Amino acid sequence: MTSYKELGLVNTREMFAKAVAGGYAIPAFNFNTLEQMQAIVQAAVETKSPVIMQVSKGARNYANGTILRYMAQGAVEYAKELGCENPQIVLHLDHGDTFELCKDCIDNGFSSVMIDGSSLPYEENIALTKKVVEYAHKFDVTVEAELGVLAGVEDEVASEVSHYTKPDEVVDFSTRSGCDSLAISIGTSHGAYKFTPEQCTRDPKTGRLVPPPLAFDILHEIEKRLPGFPIVLHGSSSVPQDEVDTINAHGGKLPDAVGIPEEQLREASKSAVCKINIDSDSRLAMTAAIRKHFDEKPGDFDPRQYLKPARENMKKMYIHKIVEVLGSNNKL
Ligand code: G3H
Ligand code: 13P
Ligand code: ZN
Repeated sequence: MTSYKELGLVNTREMFAKAVAGGYAIPAFNFNTLEQMQAIVQAAVETKSPVIMQVSKGARNYANGTILRYMAQGAVEYAKELGCENPQIVLHLDHGDTFELCKDCIDNGFSSVMIDGSSLPYEENIALTKKVVEYAHKFDVTVEAELGVLAGVEDEVASEVSHYTKPDEVVDFSTRSGCDSLAISIGTSHGAYKFTPEQCTRDPKTGRLVPPPLAFDILHEIEKRLPGFPIVLHGSSSVPQDEVDTINAHGGKLPDAVGIPEEQLREASKSAVCKINIDSDSRLAMTAAIRKHFDEKPGDFDPRQYLKPARENMKKMYIHKIVEVLGSNNKL
C-alpha cells in the first residue's frame, strides 16, 4: 500500500470546497506522456493554480500505471523545484469502470478516483459507487461518480446518444452513494467531434460550425437541489479552431471538428462546476505542433526537436485554460 500522502499529493476535498466558494473550476488534464506532465506542471506553477492530473484506463495500458504514479510523484517534486512551495496536485483515475481498478489505484498512490457507473441501471450505479466510496474513504481518497450519459465513447462505455442528468435523481444518488463529486451530462461529450454538422448551425462569415448551447437550465436545477456540492464536467475541450487549421494545413484531416465554446465553460466555472476535464485540446496542441515541425523541417529526426515545440504549445494551451477560462490562477 502506498498512500498518496507519502507522495506529496492531495485529494480533492478542500480544493473543490474552495473552488465552489470562489466561483472557479480546477483544471483536470489527462496525461500519458512525459511532455504532457512537464507542460501541466509548468503551467500550474507559473499560474499558481491547483491542478488535477488524470489517468484513464487507456493511459495505464499505454504508459504503465506504476510509471504514471511515479510521474505524478515526480510532478510534485518538479513543481517544488520550479519554485512552488506547496503544490496542490491531485492524481486522479479517470473513468474507472470496476471496483478492482479503483482499489488498485487507491492502493497505489492515487488521491482521487472516478467510478463511472453511468452506463449501469440507476440502483447498480449507486451500489457500485457506494462500494468504491466505502473503500476509498478509509484512506481519505475522494470519489467522483457520474449520473447521466455523455454521447460518444467513454473508454469502455459507449453510447450513441446522450441522456441528460435528471435533477430529480441527484439528491438521492449523492446521499445514498456517498460520492464526493458528481459528473453530470448537460450536452458535453468526449473527443474532437462533439456535435455533428446537423446539430450545429454555420457562421455565414467564417463557415465554422456553431454548436448548440449546453443545458444550463439543468445545471442550475442541479445546483438548486445540491447547494454547494461539487459538480464535474467531462468532455470539455473547446477544440481550438487554429489548432485544427494547423493540423489540416500540414497534412492532417480533421474536417468539421468542433468543441464546447470557451464562453460557456467560463460561465459554468462560476457555478458549482468545480472540475473541468480537458484531454482532446492537449492532443490537438501536440499534434498541430508536431505536424507543423515535420512539414517545415523534414530533416529532423531527434524526438526532442519536435517534442519541444509540442510541449511549448501544450503549455500555452494549459495556461490559457487556467487563466482565461477556468479562473484557477493565483489560488495557491
Ligand atoms: O474520457 C476520455 C479521456 O479523454 C481519456 O481518453 O481513454 O483515450 O485515454 P483515453
Ligand atoms: P475531452 O475529450 O473533451 O477533452 O474530454 C476529456 C474528458 O472528459 C476526460 O475524462
Ligand atoms: Zn471523461
